[in-house]
Amino acid sequence: MKIKNIAVLTSGGDAPGMNSAIFGIFSACQDNGINLYGVYNGFDGLIDNKFRLITFDMLDGRTNRGGSILKSARSKRFKKQSYFKKAISNLNLNKIDALIVIGGDGSTRACIELRDNGVKVISLPGTIDNDLNFTYTIGFDTATNNIVNAVDNIMDSLATFGYGTVIKLMGRDCPDLVESCAKALHTKYTITKKDFDIAPLIKSIKKNHDDCHLPPVVLVLEDCIDCNELSKILEEKCKFPFRAHILGYVQRGGSPSAFDRKYGFSAGEYAVDALINGKHGFAVGMVGSSITSKSFEDIIKF
Ligand code: F6P
Repeated sequence: MKIKNIAVLTSGGDAPGMNSAIFGIFSACQDNGINLYGVYNGFDGLIDNKFRLITFDMLDGRTNRGGSILKSARSKRFKKQSYFKKAISNLNLNKIDALIVIGGDGSTRACIELRDNGVKVISLPGTIDNDLNFTYTIGFDTATNNIVNAVDNIMDSLATFGYGTVIKLMGRDCPDLVESCAKALHTKYTITKKDFDIAPLIKSIKKNHDDCHLPPVVLVLEDCIDCNELSKILEEKCKFPFRAHILGYVQRGGSPSAFDRKYGFSAGEYAVDALINGKHGFAVGMVGSSITSKSFEDIIKF
């Protein structure tokens, strides 16, 4: 069956590169005479019938910005049978032949439900968390750079005064963002589990502390420990000042890196090409340096 109308939505935490992915999808649709509909507000938009034909004017100047031009949501309603049915009936009402979902773990799970209910669906992994089983997810590279730049700025002041720092990062259950930033920032102090032993951390920080060197940077995944509390404990035990930082949305925002722009765009093109060739029901992402497909089940890690 010839594909005439494709819909795209973004769901879950926004990730830099989502707009580039939308642009990749749009370009491929334009090249093949396919209408592309944007669904606003993630899966809530499917339920509320928020479909809009995407035109170049809507994308112009926005494709290389962070966030999502289609907005996003973490839809609780979509998990309820009555709303799920409404979402499917709106896809039919708008004569949508196939749906492309850009999102993370929760979005992938939603795609399984859609596939199992007869919807032609492809997902692209858009999340800063890198918690899906591709080499990288769209947005992870930019978030890593955002964090490294922010911590570099923080360290200019802290190093001048010899203060240590404890920094809370995002990543949900996945340690990748913390570990990738730790490598780039050359720090060995990471906390990525709730049940960690503080004694070796204190011992190592005390042993390595030296007025001539950079003070310690401790990177913490989400709520593994209260960063303010940890900062107080380290200050007391190590006998020099510590400051705690919660980086927040600085990590997720901003223009996507060149890597995420290229990745998003290519994955978008790949998805449309697959749909034109009658293939669907899987995720499209990066393995090594190539864009390829994997089953939804294969990319869920946590
Ligand atoms: O999934 C992306 C992410 O930023 C996670 O790292 C974090 O746990 C969560 O979203 C925060 O969600 P919200 O923006 O809804 O508070």
